[in-house]
Parts: sequence; structure tokens; C-alpha cells
Amino acid sequence: MRLILLGSPGAGKGTQAQYIVKRYGIVQIATGDMLRHTLEAKNDLSVAVKRAMDAGELVSDELMIAIVKARLLQSDCKAGFLLDGFPRTLAQAEALHQNDVQLDYVIEVKVDEQTILERLTGRRVHPGSGRSYHLIYHPPKNPGVDDVTGEPLIQRKDDEEQTVRRRLAVYREQTMPLVGYYQQWALRSPEDAPRYYQINGDRPVEVVRDEIISILDSKKASADHLG
Ligand code: AP5
Repeated sequence: MRLILLGSPGAGKGTQAQYIVKRYGIVQIATGDMLRHTLEAKNDLSVAVKRAMDAGELVSDELMIAIVKARLLQSDCKAGFLLDGFPRTLAQAEALHQNDVQLDYVIEVKVDEQTILERLTGRRVHPGSGRSYHLIYHPPKNPGVDDVTGEPLIQRKDDEEQTVRRRLAVYREQTMPLVGYYQQWALRSPEDAPRYYQINGDRPVEVVRDEIISILDSKKASADHLG
């Protein structure tokens, strides 16, 4: 299974990705997490990446495409992958297409902007794994620590309100056009286009999860049946 999770900052892509990759035995390719790991090396590139991320701007298409292309060549992607945070621009979507990256599904998780503001200001993350929690809506079992490792959770710098507003504007301008891109491709050429589904992400985590899984389970079952 190869899929894209599309959605604004804070729509719940990372949260839902955790369930999907576990259920289908595929790898999660979360470009935001990959970039945050590169920041550990202190060099000119990491300084430029950090500046863009902290300001809520996108990192260059050139760099992002190179990172994802290299990642997709690794052997663990053969069994399938979930792209979380990529593509984010038309140029990135076109790069996947030009490089013949086959995709089965694009799942858009849609949430209104006021809800996003509440979610991101209350979010806490486990930096090592990228696991994501919310102080009220999705708290860890023990306050302040990751459920799996027991390590401390942190608040992301770009989750401050002003930066969240900028990230939402960038999403509207640069990433929303992908909705039309994939919907039109599916209408124009349903045989080779990924199947497109829009999910209402403004419901409890488990409800969103169950809807995504029921779509993927039914499509997977019919694909298995066809052999
Ligand atoms: P990235 O890390 O990808 O951030 P993002 O897309 O802005 O997504 P988030 O991680 O903020 O949100 P999410 O949808 O995963 O939500 P989550 O599940 O955590 O990118 C960061 C930066 O890196 C970008 O700004 C850019 O600079 C750069 N970058 C990355 N990829 C790039 C690319 N391809 N091109 C260029 N630049 C790139 O949930 C959010 C919160 O809500 C959590 O607290 C969660 O617990 C809670 N929550 C989740 N679901 C629900 C629910 N149903 N109900 C209530 N609460 C919920």
C-alpha cells in the first residue's frame, strides 16, 4: 500500500499515520520529522532549514524532492509507504509523477482553521519518534512523557500562535492546489490515478481512524481478491 496523507498543519496526519503504518506494515515518511532530525548537524544547510521551519515557511522544493527520492529508494519502502507532509506543492507532486512513484490513495484530512489553532497550541511531541499528543484531546497515559519510551515530551517552536497562522496561510496558498490536482487526475484518468478520499478530521481521533481504516480495508480486500 502506498499513500499520501494530505491536510493542513495540525489536521491529524501524524496521529492517523501511527495507526495506518502499524496496521498495514508500511513505513511512515514524515518530511517534517526528517527535517527536524537534520537540524542536529550544525551546518549552513541546517541553519537555513531551521530558519524556514521556525518561521512557518516551506523548505525549498529542490531539497525536499531530493530527500524524499533518496528515502523512497530504501529497501523498507518496497512493502509500502505513507507520505506524511509530502507533497506540499505542485512541483513536489509533479516530481513524484515524473519519477513514476506509484500511489494507491490520497487521503485528505480536512479540519477548520479555528480547531487547528487549538490543536497546535496544545500539542506535545516525542522528538525521537515523532509521536504526537494533545494536552486535552489525546493526552499521554502519564503527563509529560511518551507512552512507549517514557521519555519527556516537548512543545514544537512552530506551534506558537503567530507561526501557526503563517503555516495555515502557506497551506492555503501552496498546498491546497494539490486537492484539485489529485481530484482532477482521478476524474481524468481513473485507471492510473491514486484514489482520492476526503475525510472530516474534526471528530475524535478514533472516529477518524476507523473511517480511514474502513476505506483502506475495503479497497485492500478487493485488490487482494483481484490478485
Ligand atoms: P510538519 O512537521 O510536516 O508539520 P505540519 O504538516 O505542519 O503538520 P503537523 O505535524 O503540524 O500536523 P499533523 O497534521 O501531523 O497533526 P498531528 O497529528 O500532530 O512540517 C513542519 C515544517 O517542515 C513545515 O512548516 C515546513 O517548514 C517543513 N516541511 C515539511 N515538509 C515539507 C515539504 N514537503 N516541503 C517544504 N517544507 C516542508 O495533530 C496535531 C495535534 O492535534 C496533536 O496535538 C494531536 O494530538 C491533536 N489531534 C490530532 N487529531 C485530533 C482529533 N481528531 N481531535 C482532536 N485532536 C487531535
